[in-house]
Amino acid sequence: MPQNSVHGSPTGRAVGGTENSWCRAVPGGTGVVTVALLLSKPPEASLLQSALHTLQNRHAVLGSKLHYDTTTNTFSFIKSPIPPLQVKSFNLSSTCHLLQSLISSPNTHSVSPFHLILEHELNQNPWCNLKSPSYDDGTDVFFANIYTLPDAKWVVVLRLHTAVCDRTTAVSLLRELIGVVREKEDGGGREEKVRDDGEVSLGIEDFIPSGKAKKALWVRGVDMLSYSVNSLRLTNLKFKDVKSPRSSEVVRLQLNRDDTESLLAGCSAKGIKLCGALVAAALIAGFYHSAILNTHSMKGGEKLWELAKRSYMAFANSKNCNKHFSDMADLNFLMRKAIENPGLTSASSLRTSFLSVFEDPVIETSDEIYREIVGLEDYIGCASVHGMGPSIAIFDTIRGGMLDCACVYPSPLHSREQMEELLHNMKRLLVDAAAHNRVPNE
Ligand SMILES: *[C@@H]1O[C@H](CO)[C@@H](O)[C@H](O)[C@H]1NC(C)=O
Repeated sequence: MPQNSVHGSPTGRAVGGTENSWCRAVPGGTGVVTVALLLSKPPEASLLQSALHTLQNRHAVLGSKLHYDTTTNTFSFIKSPIPPLQVKSFNLSSTCHLLQSLISSPNTHSVSPFHLILEHELNQNPWCNLKSPSYDDGTDVFFANIYTLPDAKWVVVLRLHTAVCDRTTAVSLLRELIGVVREKEDGGGREEKVRDDGEVSLGIEDFIPSGKAKKALWVRGVDMLSYSVNSLRLTNLKFKDVKSPRSSEVVRLQLNRDDTESLLAGCSAKGIKLCGALVAAALIAGFYHSAILNTHSMKGGEKLWELAKRSYMAFANSKNCNKHFSDMADLNFLMRKAIENPGLTSASSLRTSFLSVFEDPVIETSDEIYREIVGLEDYIGCASVHGMGPSIAIFDTIRGGMLDCACVYPSPLHSREQMEELLHNMKRLLVDAAAHNRVPNE
């Protein structure tokens, strides 16, 4: 056990199988979960910190440290003896200073300050040296920062290790956080019950309704595995620069309410989920009708809906039929192999697939309420992918009836122009498909 066992016997536990895979992936740059909120009301750092402490008390794993044991080569969560998370505030001048340095990197002219800060945070990786002896006390798993933008706007960023909180869970966490902030603003509200069992459990999964937590983890794995299998050999999305050090960048794909509604109606009429349509659009836009995929061999001019149905059915079948996919050990093995042997992936790109997408989008209906309570103008939740991972990871949400996807890619392996073009084509295909769906004689 680490040194801090002298302070008493810290409670903790070894990480589980899936958590272990993520623990191995995160140091390389995949799995830094970031939720950035753009606010029009100044957040109060002390209130935010107190609300975050409440969350850490409710979900012990959020208040723990991740520790690596060099002798046994294993990771564990240990209960942190020191007080939990400190919110860091950046004032206007320090935020502007940061933005200046971010703007000086290439291809950022079209990127808003909010978006730049999101990308900056996505690439802060406090876990990259976890295996070095100087990290013997472990590393926190949860960070929060406040940035002050020039035009009376603020950005609050929560950053987490994906082993404790994936993207779907992070959005639930956000909802809970806003609830706690509201309670505290209402004069402290009821006395918060502090967990004193000290158990570092996976309590965070508790607040995903109706036991969906397991499913979320499992589905994430299945996506990665099935697309890994399907598209390991794809090279049609050209690598721009395989040598330079990598970071994660984000491009956004947004559809208006009408198009989103028609697209969802189309999916529903075809008996597929939204992820099928997103995959199909990405495949067509990515491959310009010319690619041969392992399982999806495409003819020129193939209609998006046909491909969407085929992609989705292939996914649904693998999910239904191959019971062994439910054994995460297979996936964990594949992930570890790819991390340990980058040479197995094409051009040592560490790309295990072209695309990963969640089976279900995050659906948010409380945007108006959040706007009122905390002045929420916009938010993006996603995770870094520049270690081992796909060329594009799509984090899709539907909020206020509009499709809003954060698409994360490794740069400069892929360039912003390349991804903007790809997403532009995807959007065109989705909008066309949605319009096609509005025509009655389809
Ligand atoms: C802003 O923060 C920086 C760094 O913490 C500090 O040096 C500076 O004095 C602050 N400026 C103002 C106006 O508070």
